[in-house]
Amino acid sequence: MEIKRVGVVGCGLMGSGIAEVCARSGYEVLVREVNSALLQKGLDRINKSLAKAVSRGKMSQEEADQATARMQGTLDLADFGDCDLVVEAAIENMAIKKEIFAELDSVLPAHAILASNTSSLCVTEMASVTRRGDKVLGIHFFNPVPVMPLIEFVRTILTSDETMEIAHEFGASLGKTMVTAKDTPGFIVNRLLMPYILDAVHIYENGLASKEDIDTAIHLGLNHPMGPLTLLDFVGLDTCLFIADAMYEEYKDARYAAPPLLRRMVLAGHLGRKSGKGFYDYS
Ligand code: CAA
Repeated sequence: MEIKRVGVVGCGLMGSGIAEVCARSGYEVLVREVNSALLQKGLDRINKSLAKAVSRGKMSQEEADQATARMQGTLDLADFGDCDLVVEAAIENMAIKKEIFAELDSVLPAHAILASNTSSLCVTEMASVTRRGDKVLGIHFFNPVPVMPLIEFVRTILTSDETMEIAHEFGASLGKTMVTAKDTPGFIVNRLLMPYILDAVHIYENGLASKEDIDTAIHLGLNHPMGPLTLLDFVGLDTCLFIADAMYEEYKDARYAAPPLLRRMVLAGHLGRKSGKGFYDYS
């Protein structure tokens, strides 16, 4: 099967990055948001990112214009009828994702692959509301999508070899390196990342070191691009809390238990860069 047209559900931070990378790789892209203000915000983010790529000499203005021309927005999932592959990047809410999967299953052509960009939810549960379980998988991108070179594929017990082969060809065409994990909470990256991030909050909460020293120690001592608390602000405290809770819910393992401070910062609206304040101030 040749993938020509890609659908992306959600045009937030992840959805807009996925749509941009697909359009830059030559695919026709249809992206859906729930209202026109959010759709416009997402498309503006993509155009800004393309303009930045042009200004940094990563692509020509003509290539950026072609990528823009390959992208269309919609508010209606019914418009996805000629998509060969859809990546769902809507909010991390299982009930909403199941609604989207069920609707897409009835709209998409029989050959189409249905993927979720979820970072922690059960892909098998999303597949269960479709009649194409063999064509459902997780395609997990990393933020910022245009920069991060990895895709994590999530294979359920229903996903067919053929679907995995097509997904690999698709990932390679985006210029990404791919790894595959079983459909278990956190897959590979978050299974390892979350205990580390949560531990950083624990040791800060317990007064072992200042936040700056915790971050500097990891940034310079291990050569990570960001220390754990800066990374938490970057990913979003609410997103990390959601992932940790989903992992704790399934494993009941203290390694995934959110520290009290993290939960209280989320309740206080200190979500990181997106809200202007997290462990650091971005105002
Ligand atoms: N979109 C496009 N390009 C971007 C970008 C964005 N949002 N942010 C940065 N870039 C590009 C810049 O243009 C620059 O490109 P060139 O070097 O080619 O000019 C390059 O990335 C480096 O950017 P900067 O010099 O501005 O800043 P930096 O060196 O600090 O890099 C960073 C920024 C790439 C974000 C880097 O700090 C980094 O890799 N941080 C860690 C990110 C990370 O761990 N992401 C995974 C989060 S976990 C996740 O996503 C999964 C989950 O389920 C929670």
